[in-house]
Amino acid sequence: MRYFLAIFGLSCLAVLSFFGLRGTKSTKPPVYVFPDMDFQAKYLPQGENDFFANQMDDRPVVQGTVARGYEWNVKKVFSENFAYAPDQNPALYSGKDISGEWYRGFPVPVTNELMELGQQKYAIFCAVCHGALGDGNGITKQYGMIATPTYHDDRLRDMAEGEIFNTITHGKNTMNPYADKLTPEERWAVILYVRALQQARNASLNDVPTEYRSKLGI
Ligand code: HEC
Repeated sequence: MRYFLAIFGLSCLAVLSFFGLRGTKSTKPPVYVFPDMDFQAKYLPQGENDFFANQMDDRPVVQGTVARGYEWNVKKVFSENFAYAPDQNPALYSGKDISGEWYRGFPVPVTNELMELGQQKYAIFCAVCHGALGDGNGITKQYGMIATPTYHDDRLRDMAEGEIFNTITHGKNTMNPYADKLTPEERWAVILYVRALQQARNASLNDVPTEYRSKLGI
């Protein structure tokens, strides 16, 4: 028994001197009895990596990545001296003119970039129901959303742009609002594209610039 105690005491001392007490500071790397998950095959910020040509773990941001907040769209589409203030440009945010009537026309500069932005956003947010052609035959029709109207009737052709803005902002009956997904500028861009779809459905030869008419084979 005496030997056992002596050996036990000594081995405890040996273990303590080897591993140290909990919290003991040491300049030497720790002895890992249980490594837990300290060592993993993973990429670290600014880590080294032989797989990639530039030897870095970090991958560059994919081209065209846009930070949340829409800065890019706004900068690309609108000039700096464009009036954003609601009191200077109430229709931009409400779809109504000063007298409270639905605004007709566009309270934003109409440019090719605005049209492209509208096409892009329309494809993302509207085409599923209203169809790529605006005829109301989006994919959701096959799944029971039969109430989606076509844009190609006189009521919607004559509707003020501001009223369409209101529909996008607040929704209408079974159509959800899109105010949380489209900025006011983007809503106007979408309206411009809706107008283009309507115009395309009713176009005559006079709408085609002369230099393109020969391409139509007419
Ligand atoms: C989930 C399907 C769905 C999506 C997505 C959708 N709509 Fe609609 N939209 C409808 C339905 C359904 C109606 C008919 C609402 C009613 O009058 O009962 C409608 C009606 C409209 C009208 C006519 C409103 C009126 O006063 O009669 C316009 C304009 C319109 N949508 C534009 C858009 C635009 C622009 C987008 C994209 C930002 C969009 N919609 C996205 C389903 C959709």
